[in-house]
Amino acid sequence: MIALARVDGRGAHAARLLAHATPAERELVLGVLRWQLTLDHLLARHLHQPLSVLDERIRAALRVGLYEARRMRTPAPVAVMEAVRVAKALAPRAAGLVNAVLRRTIEEPWPDPHDPDVPLPLRLSHPEWLVQRWVALLGGSEAAAALAADQEPAPLCLLAAVTVREQLAAAGCEVDSHPLVPGVLVVTNGAEVAVAALRAGKAYAIDPAAVAVARLLPEAAGLTADLTAAPGGKSLVLASERPGIRLFAADRSLRRTLLMRGTLALVERGRGVVVSDALAAPLRPGSCQAVLLDAPCSGTGTLRRHPEIRWRLQPADLAGLAVGQTRLAEAASALLAPGGVLLYATCSLEPEENAAVVAGLDLEVLPVAPALLFRALPSGGAVIPPGVAGDGFTVHLLRRRA
Ligand SMILES: C[S@@+](CC[C@H](N)C(=O)[O-])C[C@H]1O[C@@H](n2cnc3c(N)ncnc32)[C@H](O)[C@@H]1O
Repeated sequence: MIALARVDGRGAHAARLLAHATPAERELVLGVLRWQLTLDHLLARHLHQPLSVLDERIRAALRVGLYEARRMRTPAPVAVMEAVRVAKALAPRAAGLVNAVLRRTIEEPWPDPHDPDVPLPLRLSHPEWLVQRWVALLGGSEAAAALAADQEPAPLCLLAAVTVREQLAAAGCEVDSHPLVPGVLVVTNGAEVAVAALRAGKAYAIDPAAVAVARLLPEAAGLTADLTAAPGGKSLVLASERPGIRLFAADRSLRRTLLMRGTLALVERGRGVVVSDALAAPLRPGSCQAVLLDAPCSGTGTLRRHPEIRWRLQPADLAGLAVGQTRLAEAASALLAPGGVLLYATCSLEPEENAAVVAGLDLEVLPVAPALLFRALPSGGAVIPPGVAGDGFTVHLLRRRA
């Protein structure tokens, strides 16, 4: 509850706070954040004041109690007792309120996720503005599928060498091959063994859609630059699948670049990994045959893993993000040799951060080869909706005219 109160009241990032949490703690916190709008809607019916005026810790106790009772199958009296105990420790007078509100709210029917008469934002706990955008972008049924996917825990997926896969199996970790993204392993049992392998630097946790995105970058005979590369997932895909690649992988953050060194050590590729700002990369203009710019973004494709983004982000924020993305895209474009290709990608579905950014570049838009994962966009780019393979991404392939 403390973690939730910090995310809610102080703008903390849930994934960071949960770095050392148990799987059960993780799922509780992320689950409450995923279902926040629906939980609040039900709680509001039995509160005499808006939820927003309550102390953030009491708000967290109410949400957790209701979530545990309704979505985790914790017996209702146990969930209420635990929430009351926490509330009592924080503010003795609040315990009565938590007790009374939870007892009544727990009896409320949960909105039917398939009932078309219940508005989508309430059924699938996303802000209305985001739902409207995704319906416009993807159509009603694909948008509903993406929203539903955001409500599910993300499975642990790995890249690992064959020898490591054998070690994992021997230690009791069961994996399946991802059905749509070859080479990605989905952990189905024995996650603790997989986590130990990740901590020992033997495997890398990655989202399957991120792998599919990295593979879109055309193979190049000359230099390939990954300008915003940390923690190195897409560079790892490129380095491991393209043995002859000349790869420059950089990131502005020292901390994240050090993580990337560890990532690329999996394929013994420490060289060419540097701390560098993409706006002033130590590369000659026109020197790259292929450039990957996986730009920092709002992250609306990652709401399963980062559910709090949906409650923080406002539509007006997108224009500000696009300013930085445009500067990065222009810098990336200047590095392209004639005929060279830029893969501009974000884990955002929002057009301001994608189509609008690349529209300003003096580059030819190449169609993204139609495939099971990608839906074509009018801009010539493509989108992988959340839940199709994993996270959601938008991609554009752009070529400098020869
Ligand atoms: C979406 S993440 C990249 C993820 C990475 N491509 C992967 O697959 O693991 C965006 C990265 O951009 C970096 N970044 C932000 N602004 C930058 C800049 N001006 N120059 C270089 N890196 C930057 C951030 O530190 C962050 O690591």
